[in-house]
Amino acid sequence: MNHTVLPSKTTTPAGYWDRYGTGLAEEESHEEALKNAFGWCQYDGHGPGDELLGRPTTALELGFGRGNAVAALALQGISATGVDVSGVQHENAAQRWRHVPGAEFVCAEALDYLSNTTRRWDAIYSIWGAAWFTDPALLLPLGFDHLEPGGRLAFSSAPPVPGAYGPQGMYGAGFRGRPVWLYRWSYEPDDWTDILTRHGFTGVDARIHPAPNPDLLGTLIVAARRPLE
Ligand SMILES: C[S@@+](CC[C@H](N)C(=O)[O-])C[C@H]1O[C@@H](n2cnc3c(N)ncnc32)[C@H](O)[C@@H]1O
Repeated sequence: MNHTVLPSKTTTPAGYWDRYGTGLAEEESHEEALKNAFGWCQYDGHGPGDELLGRPTTALELGFGRGNAVAALALQGISATGVDVSGVQHENAAQRWRHVPGAEFVCAEALDYLSNTTRRWDAIYSIWGAAWFTDPALLLPLGFDHLEPGGRLAFSSAPPVPGAYGPQGMYGAGFRGRPVWLYRWSYEPDDWTDILTRHGFTGVDARIHPAPNPDLLGTLIVAARRPLE
């Protein structure tokens, strides 16, 4: 038996996402990508769509990944920006959707980006993206400040594992690699409602959307508004 252990090359959270994103977008055609671009759920063509964003003229995606949702919004005439910490995801999405006017892809960590811009958007959203992997105590005040009055915040992720709430840690380089820590934040829908309300959001709708087969895992979907001033 060969016991040689090759260390993982992942040394940072961004490196983890670079590995995750390598080759991902190549699996689907542009048509497939756009058809399923606004799945909040992990099941293609299932669950609500971009109506959760209201009728924005500007939108920001936190953790755009393949960039499909940004491209789909831009093709509707919305000025759509996406931010992603992974250089690989950024390069692939910017290249893949370069023909779409109104689609802007930024490579940055979500909190850094929001802390260093004065822009505001009608909608800020995240589809299994940076909102899941960022401390809500840091992200929600920034999200609120960067929404226009009346603007919408929406995000989706896996539902919490029952009993496991708050930050959930994982080792991004595996158990034989360098110690690279990533975190996700998990709460039940009622707790998300409280957290968002405490941060000034209104009209909070937090729920677990059931899977197409009710025996399978559903999706946590959270939507809220910044109040009109
Ligand atoms: C599971 S993927 C989902 C992406 C997208 N919804 C899609 O379908 O392609 C999560 C994405 O969030 C990005 N991400 C994670 N944490 C982030 C952060 N703190 N700031 C910016 N992007 C982040 C990752 O690089 C990755 O591209």
